[in-house]
Amino acid sequence: MKINRCFLALKDSYLFATVGRKTAEYKKAHPEKDVIRLSIGDVTRPLAPVVVEAMKKAVEEMSRTESFKGYGPDQTCYGYQSLIESILNSYSRKGVSLGTGEIFISDGAKSDCGNILDLFSTENTVLLPDPVYPAYADANTMAGRKIIYADANEANGFLPMPQKGVKADIIYICSPNNPTGAAYTREQLKEWVAYAKSLDAVILYDAAYEYFVTDPSLARSIYEVEGAKDCAIEICSYSKTAGFTGVRCGYTVVPHALIREGVSINKLWARRQSTKFNGVSYVTQMGAAAVFSEEGEKQISENIAYYRKNAKIIGDTLDELGIWYTGGKNSPYIWLKCPNGMDSWAFFDYLLEEANVVGTPGSGFGKNGEGFFRLTGFGTEENTREACKRISRLLQK
Ligand code: MLT
Repeated sequence: MKINRCFLALKDSYLFATVGRKTAEYKKAHPEKDVIRLSIGDVTRPLAPVVVEAMKKAVEEMSRTESFKGYGPDQTCYGYQSLIESILNSYSRKGVSLGTGEIFISDGAKSDCGNILDLFSTENTVLLPDPVYPAYADANTMAGRKIIYADANEANGFLPMPQKGVKADIIYICSPNNPTGAAYTREQLKEWVAYAKSLDAVILYDAAYEYFVTDPSLARSIYEVEGAKDCAIEICSYSKTAGFTGVRCGYTVVPHALIREGVSINKLWARRQSTKFNGVSYVTQMGAAAVFSEEGEKQISENIAYYRKNAKIIGDTLDELGIWYTGGKNSPYIWLKCPNGMDSWAFFDYLLEEANVVGTPGSGFGKNGEGFFRLTGFGTEENTREACKRISRLLQK
């Protein structure tokens, strides 16, 4: 028996697990301290009332023989029509037309960002930005794929563009970006689409934070770029859009136009999902279907405005302190330069010990993240204001 030795190339623990462990150790040693976590991007607002109502109704249906549901419909890989239609409508509002068979319901973006790799040879080269959401890098390392990096840095505003002569088969793009909060314009995405087409590559576009976009020049879907349907898969989530981090629901778009080596990638994904996945619970899907209703959109935008306000509070604090940052405007993440030339983990310790505020060290997202630090707007407003007061006091000294 042989294990998959590629796992041995991974760091001992996942970034957020390391941050969680260090925070827990500090709290254990200092139980009297009020520690504020602005580290992992986990939401704090409750589910929108329309979502709760829809879920209650679905539970009721499950309690009666005549309306009880077992496995979901297998023609759509267990996605219910009402949910798929609400997603198609949300795309129409962005000017993107898709068909029922192109939407696959999932338990969230993180799983599909890794699972989708089943469809592609391990001989493919993967292009990731650096810094990068660690799940993309880890999932490809587990499969033994060669990873190359596009440098994101202060000079390019943490938005790397395609480089001539760099060849890749799979390209991950996350916009608005985790961890940097920077977001591509439609014009910039056009260049990525042209580049992918020139290489016959496939873009895996993570749109988990699209609902934070307010600037009209920024894209909310890769399919807003003409021609993207034959080179891109879009992976979306209700986690940050509608507070589903604990509920678990997302959707992945695999267009029929996406063909490689004469094979429909859509058909491969349907085959993969019907074998390895049994769908998302009926109750969850009904809750998700309410998100893109007229009332649902209104209610979730109130929650998003709340997180956006938190991000602004953090941004304003950094502006007052004269600290460079990206994000925070069309994104819940603020990516800041550590003050006084501190490295990322040194700043993590300093902030934890001196201000009892937890963030995420930039170096955990890649070598270009060294010297940077991520804070999130997903806390409560009260905690965000308090954390900012403490950060100001500490860094103004
Ligand atoms: C993060 O903090 O980067 C996110 O919570 C990660 C995720 O959504 O899995």
